[in-house]
Amino acid sequence: MTFDPTRKWQMNLEDGTPLEVRSIRPEDRDLIVEAFRRLSPEARYFRFWMRVRELNPRLIESLCTPDQKDHVAWVAMHQTRDDIPGVGGASFWRLQDEPEAAEVSFTVADEFQGRGVATLLLAVIWEHALGLGIKRFVGHVLHENIAMRAWWDALGATEQEASRHWLSKLILDESLLQDNYPGNSLRMRLAQVRAWMGGVSVPR
Ligand SMILES: CC(C)(COP(=O)(O)OP(=O)(O)OC[C@H]1O[C@@H](n2cnc3c(N)ncnc32)[C@H](O)[C@@H]1OP(=O)(O)O)[C@@H](O)C(=O)NCCC(=O)NCCS
Repeated sequence: MTFDPTRKWQMNLEDGTPLEVRSIRPEDRDLIVEAFRRLSPEARYFRFWMRVRELNPRLIESLCTPDQKDHVAWVAMHQTRDDIPGVGGASFWRLQDEPEAAEVSFTVADEFQGRGVATLLLAVIWEHALGLGIKRFVGHVLHENIAMRAWWDALGATEQEASRHWLSKLILDESLLQDNYPGNSLRMRLAQVRAWMGGVSVPR
């Protein structure tokens, strides 16, 4: 399936919150700065591994200029609340020495966590990655990041321990997803993403 990154997906969270999912673009710079400013210190640390209040301008520049091929980035925006700079984002960078793998990152605004936002963003980047020939995601998850670890464990990721973090690997094969709430939620979103993108909505 060819993934068209210019398309927008309007959908609701299970609790009815209306979101729009779209590719990140350079004009999102100020929104990214503001969304980062509003994150809790813990969420910032888990995502960027730094206890800083502001992001380095070069990092911001790289976050909002994906090529949607080797660096892919998507954002979930609230459809009606202009006062919320962003509900969540997910991105991946293809690994240079392992082109069938990509390193992923997620950030969800604190007040939206645990409502299925990362699950839907994972479904979008999963389908996008498959279209680019990427077959597995890797995540570097700090030891303290219990939520991320529990979520990926429940999806069936494998992990190796390093000094400060876990290296988690998730194979992009829907048949390997567990039969549990996180696995079934992701399966449902994957089917929706395929339908939205005009793909064939049957399991691979
Ligand atoms: C880790 C993180 C990305 C998860 O995002 P999230 O939007 O809260 O995740 P989701 O809600 O999609 O899924 C996480 C859990 O909620 C559950 N869930 C999924 N859909 C749900 C829904 N509609 N309602 C409630 N819970 C839901 C999932 O089953 C999963 O359950 P688990 O507790 O068994 O793991 C988020 O906590 C975050 O941004 N943390 C700070 C930054 C960070 O750690 N980034 C990761 C570094 S790579």
